[in-house]
Amino acid sequence: MVKISTIKKSISLEYDVFARPTDLSAADQELYEIAAAALPESYSPYSRFQVAAAARLENGEVVSACNTENAAYPMCLCAERAALAAAASRQPTAKVVAMAITVKSPSQVLAEPASPCGACRQVLAEHEQRHGHRMRIILRAEVGPFYVLDSAADLLPLGFSSDFL
Ligand code: THU
Repeated sequence: MVKISTIKKSISLEYDVFARPTDLSAADQELYEIAAAALPESYSPYSRFQVAAAARLENGEVVSACNTENAAYPMCLCAERAALAAAASRQPTAKVVAMAITVKSPSQVLAEPASPCGACRQVLAEHEQRHGHRMRIILRAEVGPFYVLDSAADLLPLGFSSDFL
């Protein structure tokens, strides 16, 4: 009889859950408030799903952006990538050290954070790798808890990176 040996591995994710905005650090609370204030600027006439992201640069400056949709649906731009692009156009070599992301659904009051799509996870993780710096991710829906992750890479276990090229 042939014995097949397998190795089972697991990857775990740790993140902090905070019940109230005041439980966050003052800087993270401010970042979340800037994202929440930007939500109405979302251009989302097709999905009506609003997303806003506020990115804090290394020097403390904050840049925010929203999702921008297009009648040719695949052209839709997510808020997270728009915020990274806005940060890079402000300061091409700037490290984004934290990003707050918030969402508003047209059909339900979301009480648990929505986390970034796969494409945004890839781009956020590469921003970290490129700059050799972790980006704290602060997630919140319209109401409910805040999830705070130490690093964008935590959102993309076994992700693809330039190390493979
Ligand atoms: N969206 C984002 O802005 N970020 C994400 O990570 C997920 C989805 C936007 C794209 C589209 O405008 C709308 O949300 C619905 O998918």
